[in-house]
Amino acid sequence: MLMGTAINAATSISFSITTVLTLLLFIPINGQDQFTIIEATIDEIQTAFDQNKLTSTQLVEFYITQIETLNPRLRSVIEVNPDARSQAEKADLARKRNQGRRFLGELHGIPVLLKDTFATKDKLNTSAGSYALVGSVVPRDATVVERLRDAGAVILGKASLTEWYSFRALGKIPNGWCARAGQAKNPYLPSGDPCGSSSGSAISVAANMVTVSLGSETHGSILCPADHNSVVGLKPTVGLTSRAGVIPVLPQHDTIGAISRTVSDAVYLLDVIVGFDSRDYEATSEAAKYIPVGGYKQFLNENGLKGKRLGVVRNLFSNALNGSTVITAFENHLNTLRQSGATIVDDLEMANVDVISNPGKSGELTAMLAGFKIALNEYLQELVSSPVRSLADVISFNQNNADMEKTKEYGQGTFISAEKTSGFGEKERKAVELMEKLSQDGIEKLMTENELDALVTPGTRVIPVLALGGYPGITVPAGYEGNQMPFGICFGGLKGTEPKLIEIAYAFEQATMIRRPPFVTPFWIDER
Ligand SMILES: *[C@@H]1O[C@H](CO)[C@@H](O)[C@H](O)[C@H]1NC(C)=O
Ligand SMILES: *[C@@H]1O[C@H](CO)[C@@H](O)[C@H](O)[C@H]1NC(C)=O
Repeated sequence: MLMGTAINAATSISFSITTVLTLLLFIPINGQDQFTIIEATIDEIQTAFDQNKLTSTQLVEFYITQIETLNPRLRSVIEVNPDARSQAEKADLARKRNQGRRFLGELHGIPVLLKDTFATKDKLNTSAGSYALVGSVVPRDATVVERLRDAGAVILGKASLTEWYSFRALGKIPNGWCARAGQAKNPYLPSGDPCGSSSGSAISVAANMVTVSLGSETHGSILCPADHNSVVGLKPTVGLTSRAGVIPVLPQHDTIGAISRTVSDAVYLLDVIVGFDSRDYEATSEAAKYIPVGGYKQFLNENGLKGKRLGVVRNLFSNALNGSTVITAFENHLNTLRQSGATIVDDLEMANVDVISNPGKSGELTAMLAGFKIALNEYLQELVSSPVRSLADVISFNQNNADMEKTKEYGQGTFISAEKTSGFGEKERKAVELMEKLSQDGIEKLMTENELDALVTPGTRVIPVLALGGYPGITVPAGYEGNQMPFGICFGGLKGTEPKLIEIAYAFEQATMIRRPPFVTPFWIDER
């Protein structure tokens, strides 16, 4: 059993191929009537609950079995919640007592996996994938976790990630690797990049180990793993969702968002987690004005592309993608978008794309190094108890536990650079000013002058543009390369434009329906 214990990444498994096929295809409920959990949307699950074809407890059992089966390969889950079953039973009981009298909400009884940087005041550790934080006691649930619980969601466990958001050693820690889980794998292509840092959140949803998950993004950490693992990733405007109780990188850019198999599932999650939070006062009070009355569900509109103006900035991606399958698919998708009523404004140029795309030049890295030290130290000092209380402690921990943390192999160069900073001074303020100017002259000017509703890019080359100004984006599965490696299409926009982005993404998804589940078996070969 995995329950209650950290999953041993090295555990080997043995069972017959029949077991696997049964697991992957059906869960028999009530003898004859079968409900397929694989790929089930939240709407389908809620209908199955209503029709007594499925209980939350059965759903949790199914996902725990999936995790036991697949996790030794995929390593996308760090801990399963020992209380997940009892939370599901509670949800089932509440539903029974309610007997359909009132709508309990889309997330009631739905299992959710959290990136291992979301504080949970329960039996689960919150460790950013590192041994340094194992055993630390958080003061309370992260605000978004509190909201999930209030909505009746089941906290299934913690997802793995690129350790410390890869901020321990940028460019050195492999995407998806953390000390506690080992190397997470792309479920479509074992040798494929799972991207990061919310790798476990994306992989687990892709491989049907959970219904939906939460991730966080500072610079690509939701959009990129969602793109690479064929799931939907929704990165909200900074401040739309509270970051209180989530291990930070750079508060000016950090945002919490949904990873799911469908746009509607992401939107249901968004509706629950958005809103003002006194513990993240400034950002959430600023962004609260963007939240529409009636929430985001109303924008799940199949005709959402009608009349929309979508900008294509080819100098953002041509260099990297020219001639690829991704570009061929993208050209076809542009036609689909046109046929669905959108106007494509092509060949736009964004000023300073090269500077924007280089964190070392845009000011982003400068701001991150100083901002991270301040924000992490605040997080660590707020803990009720912890083996580490500062970035300096974490650096010492990594030095003293070099084998466990692979410190010699991957280093901790970014941590050391961050530790050398001393507050947000003149240099950092200049960096912030530069980022603001780049955004003004870049995306803001382009969108306004061309009256655009969104930018559309193949893959995720738009990430730095969205990171610099705290802008929202959503990625939707857009195809697979010959070797099965997935890729997405990304829609990004100005602050608070989630309603438009949701309309566009949902209409595109409904017109294309490209996503399919990966086929992972125990015979899955590590390198193809
Ligand atoms: C949290 O970490 C401790 C220390 O390693 C471990 O004993 C415990 O099982 C972990 N919790 C879960 C739910 O895995
Ligand atoms: C990409 O290909 C297009 C035509 O297929 C060409 O016009 C453009 O110059 C190429 N861009 C780069 C950066 O190679």
